[in-house]
Amino acid sequence: MLDAGFQSRDDVFMSILIFGNGWIGNKFLQAHPEARMSTVITTNPGEIGEILDFEEPDNVFNAAGITGQPNVDWCEDHQVETAVGNTMFPIMLAQACAERGIHLTHLGSGCIFYGDSPDPKGWLESDNPNPVAYYSKTKAAADLVLGPMPNVAVVRLRLPLDHEPSPKNTITKLASYPKVLDVRNSVTVMDDLMSALFQIMEKRATGVFHAVNPEPLAYRDLMRWYREIVDPNHVNDWISEDDLVSQGLAVKKRSTNILANTRLSEFGIQMRSTEEAVKDVLRRYADELKNGFRATGN
Ligand SMILES: NC(=O)c1ccc[n+]([C@@H]2O[C@H](COP(=O)([O-])OP(=O)(O)OC[C@H]3O[C@@H](n4cnc5c(N)ncnc54)[C@H](OP(=O)(O)O)[C@@H]3O)[C@@H](O)[C@H]2O)c1
Repeated sequence: MLDAGFQSRDDVFMSILIFGNGWIGNKFLQAHPEARMSTVITTNPGEIGEILDFEEPDNVFNAAGITGQPNVDWCEDHQVETAVGNTMFPIMLAQACAERGIHLTHLGSGCIFYGDSPDPKGWLESDNPNPVAYYSKTKAAADLVLGPMPNVAVVRLRLPLDHEPSPKNTITKLASYPKVLDVRNSVTVMDDLMSALFQIMEKRATGVFHAVNPEPLAYRDLMRWYREIVDPNHVNDWISEDDLVSQGLAVKKRSTNILANTRLSEFGIQMRSTEEAVKDVLRRYADELKNGFRATGN
């Protein structure tokens, strides 16, 4: 859906302002160096407005959020900080953008869905979330508020796979685990996400989008391709979802789910087939390791 007040501006050079000087915000900046990064951390509506008035962007990309250190289990014990960062801040930003006619692309997460979807294709963009972990609840709450707004695109990703090693990269994470969950999940290859995000901004598309590669990925396939392409000596054991918590490897059950990517195509936006995109990202990941890339905090 394109709202009357937010028509496509394909013919106009876009001025993009990023909030969230973290992993995904910087990935986007790497892919689109013409964008600008706001380095101010704020939850003050007046200050958010001042930043927008100073920078005068056409598009805001919200990659800010509270993801927990070392992982989302942190959010269980830091609920207020998590809710302020993941729910209140996006609402304030959406309001400030709406008042100025700015299109907002907000990063959501597919981990607001748990278990099997009612639709055999997977969880649809229009489905109601059923979050369990506190982090997921705060992400779902923001989506419920922002999703219907006429100036906002909520772009949900799942389990990002990137060519650069990083503790945030699902490839790096799974390769570091001696025991890997024996599940199938939707995944997001970062190159495809960066391209989809930019096209959403260009087209000023609105509503909720599932930015996942089309077919679910079995972790058994991912680790087999990892051995073939990255490290023939890699070994791991397999565990079930219930074992993860019962063996003390996580505080809260992780969301395992399949998302249906149904809305991007309405805007002519495609993500590559999962096998093609995952093998491509693994080849580039292997090259990065050969060139001596070391995973850092970002
Ligand atoms: N990475 C994933 O696997 C994944 C998957 C699905 C969805 N997402 C979503 O994608 C977004 C970005 O994730 P990420 O992995 O890039 O996280 P990240 O590396 O932790 O980056 C988030 C950044 O936002 C900053 N921030 C927090 N509150 C802010 C505020 N009020 N104003 C300005 N900046 C603020 C954080 O600063 P501090 O570090 O100082 O707190 C951090 O630099 C999050 O909304 C996350 O929920 C991520």
